[in-house]
Amino acid sequence: MGVHDGKTYLITGVLTKRSIATSVARLVHQDGATILATSFDRARATTLRTLHSVGLEIPVLNYDASSPTGAEELADQVMQHTDVLDGALFAIAGAPKEALNSDLSRATANEVAETLTTSALALSSLAYALSPQLARASESASLVALTFSPHRVWPGYGWMGIAKGTLESIVKHLAVELGPLGIRVNQVDAGPLRTAAARQITSLARAADHFSAIAPLGWDAQDAQPVAEACAMLLSPLLRATTGSTIVVDGGAHLVGGS
Ligand SMILES: NC(=O)c1ccc[n+]([C@@H]2O[C@H](COP(=O)([O-])OP(=O)(O)OC[C@H]3O[C@@H](n4cnc5c(N)ncnc54)[C@H](O)[C@@H]3O)[C@@H](O)[C@H]2O)c1
Repeated sequence: MGVHDGKTYLITGVLTKRSIATSVARLVHQDGATILATSFDRARATTLRTLHSVGLEIPVLNYDASSPTGAEELADQVMQHTDVLDGALFAIAGAPKEALNSDLSRATANEVAETLTTSALALSSLAYALSPQLARASESASLVALTFSPHRVWPGYGWMGIAKGTLESIVKHLAVELGPLGIRVNQVDAGPLRTAAARQITSLARAADHFSAIAPLGWDAQDAQPVAEACAMLLSPLLRATTGSTIVVDGGAHLVGGS
């Protein structure tokens, strides 16, 4: 019996075959998990096509992370499928292009708010909205978020870098708040990968070459599998006493001095 056998996970963030969430969904599904996916208005057709192309015929619920009611509406839809969730993956990032600039002053307050809401604050809304279903898991339930190098400033990552710093703080606070309900909250700090989200950000393309050059274990920006494996491990009960933590999956690049 695999560690994901009989588990039910909510997986956000499936867009293309390259999406980190697509690799996670395939991995845990192969290992016996039931999956509910999410998508939102303009992305929905692409999400459906991607899931079909990788052989995942699973429900796709509506979830717009930028909407103030998105998480509550999602929780209602989840309840139509299951009243128990063993975990959820928050693999969402979104920002208007003006917010992805070294010059922070170029983004308006609304653009900043959209970036922070979609890419960070939504994790908190999602966690609280799903907490009744997560709290019913037989073993500790797990929320997993994705981040990129939150302790460094990457020129051009702009307000998304600030969103990732905020996300880390939210992960820690939620871990403390939701721990007594048996809910773990962690994040995976992934090295740069060539996904749709990354294409918008030129500094991530440069970072991909940099990581490949310096990572002691090597780094392949085309291969999301090592990141997906870490997410799957965190979703599973194997790390049942780990919460509020960041697992870095970058081939060791973050360790190398002078980089
Ligand atoms: N690609 C990288 O280099 C890299 C590195 C580290 C961390 N990450 C993080 O991994 C996560 C997944 O990104 P990815 O690289 O797989 O790219 P991706 O483009 O495949 O996934 C991003 C997802 O966010 C979704 N999204 C955007 N706005 C949304 C909204 N308002 N409501 C709901 N969903 C919305 C998109 O539909 C898409 O599914 C993101 O948090 C990203 O910051 C990516």
